Amino acid sequence: MSDLTFEIESNPAPRSTEDRAALMANPGFGKVFTDHMAIARYSAERGWHDARITARAPIPLDPAAAVLHYAQEIFEGLKAYRTADGGAALFRPEANAKRFRSSAERMAMVPFPEKAFIDAQRKLVEIDRAWIPDTPDGSLYLRPFMIANEVFLGVKPATEYLFITIASAVGSYFKDPNGTVTVWLSEHYTRAAPGGTGAAKCGGNYASSLAAQAEAASKGCEQVVFLDAAERRYVEELGGMNVFFVFEDGTLLTPPLSDSILPGITRDSIITLAREAGMTVREELYAIDQWREDVRSGRQTEAFACGTAAVITPIGKVRGREDDFAIGDSVAGPVARKLRSMLVDIQRGNTNDSHGWFQKV
Ligand code: PLP
Ligand code: COI
Repeated sequence: MSDLTFEIESNPAPRSTEDRAALMANPGFGKVFTDHMAIARYSAERGWHDARITARAPIPLDPAAAVLHYAQEIFEGLKAYRTADGGAALFRPEANAKRFRSSAERMAMVPFPEKAFIDAQRKLVEIDRAWIPDTPDGSLYLRPFMIANEVFLGVKPATEYLFITIASAVGSYFKDPNGTVTVWLSEHYTRAAPGGTGAAKCGGNYASSLAAQAEAASKGCEQVVFLDAAERRYVEELGGMNVFFVFEDGTLLTPPLSDSILPGITRDSIITLAREAGMTVREELYAIDQWREDVRSGRQTEAFACGTAAVITPIGKVRGREDDFAIGDSVAGPVARKLRSMLVDIQRGNTNDSHGWFQKV
C-alpha cells in the first residue's frame, strides 16, 4: 500500500478570484477554507484506497461511526508558505507524517503511509496555491486528520478509517502578531498523565483541555499552562504549544519530552537552530516555584510559546490563582525575536536551509 498516490479530480465550482480575495482580506485563524480536500479510505479488505484530491464538501457519517462515540481521531498541523518568487513551500512535512504515524499507533489506528501523507499535502497545496496569503504573517494551514468510521458500537480498534486533509488560509494565531500573551496557570486541571495520550496529537487531548482553556479566557489569558499530572509541580506545555525559557546568561531551557508532552516540530527546530547559533539549550524539568523565583529575581529574562500555529510568541505574564508575575518588560525579548526570524526565514525561503526543512511544492 506504500504506493498510494492521490489522484487530482477537478473542482467544477471553485470560488471566483473576487470571492477568494474578499475571504482572504482578513482571514484570522481556521475560518477560511480552500476549494479542495484530500481524502482516502481504509478498510480491512482493501487497505488504504480511493485517494483523491476533490472538491471540499461535507462528509457523510453514520451516527454509529466509532469516532463519534469513542473519539478514535488524530490530526496534524503544518503550513505552506508563499515564497518570494511566487511559489509555495512546505516546512518539514515528513516530520508531521512521522508524528501522524506515532499518534495512530498510540490510538490503535491503522497508520497512514508517510509517503502518501506528503503526497496529499503537496497536491492539495498545488491545486489550492492561490489561497496562500501573500502577507508577512500569512500562510496556508494544512490540517490532516484521520477518523474511525466503522459503524459499530463495540469498544475496540476500528477496521475502517477516513484520512482527510483540509486547508485554511490563515493570519497570525493570536490577535496581536507582535505582542506578548498572558498565560493562565492551570492548578486544577491537568492535560496528560504518565502512560496517557499526551504525546499523541489526538482530538481527545484538546477536548479535555477546553475547560482549562475556558478558565484561562475567563481570567483574561490567551493560553493555559499545564503542570505535570503526577506531582502538579513541573511545567509541561501550553494547551496548543510547547514552551521555552531564556535566562540572563543567554541559555535556553525547555521541558524534556515525555509521554505527556507533544513532541513539537517547532520545538525541535528551535533547539537545532539555537544550538547551531552557539546557544546552550537544556531539556530539563522546570518546577513552577522555580519559574516564579527565576522571574522575580530577574534570572529569567524571557519565556515564549512555540508551535506551527503560534510560531514563536513571547509570554509577557503568567497568572495563577494567587498571583501574577510579569516576564521581562512584557515585550518580545531579543532571543525570541532572533529565533523567530531565523525560523521564519527558513520557512519562507529567505535564507539558505542546510537541513532540508524547506521543501518547494
Ligand atoms: N503542543 C501542543 C499541545 C500542540 O497542540 C502543538 C501544536 O501542534 C504543539 C505543542 C507544537 O507542535 P508543532 O510545533 O509541531 O506545531
Ligand atoms: C498547531 O499549532 O498546529 C496546533 O495544532 C495547535 C492549535 C492551537 C491550532
